[in-house]
Amino acid sequence: MHDQSTESAKLTLKGTTYDLPVYSGTIGPDVIDIGKLYAEAGVFTFDPGYTSTGSCESSITYIDGEKGELLYRGYPIEQLAEKSHFLEVCYLLLYGELPTAAQMEDFETRVTNHTMLHEQLAYFFRGFRRDAHPMAVVCGAMGAMSAFYHDSTDINDPWQREVATIRMIAKMPTLVSWAYKYSIGQPFVYPNNSLDYASNFLNMCFSVPAAEYHVDPILSRAMDRIFTLHADHEQNASTSTVRLASSSGANPFACVAAGVACLWGPAHGGANEACLRMLREIGSVDRIPEYIKKAKDKDDPFRLMGFGHRVYKNFDPRAKVMKQSADEVLGLLGIENNPTLQVAKELERIALEDEYFVEKKLYPNVDFYSGIILDAMGFPTSMFTPIFALARTVGWISQWKEMLEDPKARIGRPRQLYTGAAFRDYTDVENR
Ligand code: CMC
Repeated sequence: MHDQSTESAKLTLKGTTYDLPVYSGTIGPDVIDIGKLYAEAGVFTFDPGYTSTGSCESSITYIDGEKGELLYRGYPIEQLAEKSHFLEVCYLLLYGELPTAAQMEDFETRVTNHTMLHEQLAYFFRGFRRDAHPMAVVCGAMGAMSAFYHDSTDINDPWQREVATIRMIAKMPTLVSWAYKYSIGQPFVYPNNSLDYASNFLNMCFSVPAAEYHVDPILSRAMDRIFTLHADHEQNASTSTVRLASSSGANPFACVAAGVACLWGPAHGGANEACLRMLREIGSVDRIPEYIKKAKDKDDPFRLMGFGHRVYKNFDPRAKVMKQSADEVLGLLGIENNPTLQVAKELERIALEDEYFVEKKLYPNVDFYSGIILDAMGFPTSMFTPIFALARTVGWISQWKEMLEDPKARIGRPRQLYTGAAFRDYTDVENR
């Protein structure tokens, strides 16, 4: 919890001055508490897009957009991507500290004990059209989990909250891989608890009953790193969606389904799919200037997908690690001359030198390189955002848990600047 306010900000409005408490966190900008402003001064603050608004107090993830720094519980993402692994990162995000060996073993056991989906869910999947986007299936199936796991939907029971947490982390790889298998008409592959988290996911996506399948440890490591890099990202759009949904007391599966829906948009998690489609559409290095020109044209809605970020204004630290991973994976697969990678590298080089992108501080973000790795692994573009959702599930749940444990949390209910018609009397249809 933050300390009591040590100083105050002053707001003068129509001749009256109001004292607003100021709070400091451990790092990052101070916040001005305007919670009592409406009661005292009768005004709202106005910040569409929330560029200057802190919506909650949190001790999970910290981002310094100027420095290009991302910390999970204080640990820099680069160190976690190199030295840790996804399930350890899950533990860290959920419980606040790195686990001891015994805690890790216990957590892994709990997760692996919950990897199977209720068998009835297989029939639920079969209700979808085969050509449905896997994100639609993941969103629907996650929402449907509240109909299958009644014994972990009571948010006021800490034990049920814990069971729901483990269930979602454990079942998401099964759910996402089944959405994929369903879309390509192959049988569902059941989880194999002797495999690690990432290998199990790859096995459920790429093995078939008719043939032996061996998970390449290099690909498994790259997959695990993609999960780690996407695990949490402070109060982004989908996380704020989960928090807002949860503020009404909705059950955890419904809240995470809301997060999946929000993540789908191309300005957020959908950017990785849109980025690879764009790179393919550009096709060759000589066509890049044409696309740069389109991106700069105010009358053209086209944007360079995988570029720009609301918070990072120098570089996205996740993109750096991801670029290194892309080089490694493509090198090891012997496809480093992949034309998509070449277009991506050249596009990055040209954009980083271009005055428009430099001036607006537009840098490659995490989605710029993740699609190239996933493509090299054999995933179709439609699976990129579901994989992001799989990885972000732990972030959504950690933030959901934190919110439910915060005694000050209340239903989220923003207000507005109303610009519609003022009071008017109803007119009968014959007089309109
Ligand atoms: N290409 C061309 N111009 C851009 C781009 C881009 N990718 N991104 C921003 N701009 C311009 C924009 O037109 C605006 O120009 P002006 O000031 O002349 O009107 C200026 O830069 C500021 O843009 P904004 O839309 O006000 O910035 P924002 O903070 O609201 O949006 C963003 C951030 C990530 C939505 C945006 O940069 C974008 O649409 N990028 C492409 C989509 C993308 O890659 N999204 C993934 C984000 S990282 C993963 C995640 O969060 O899920």
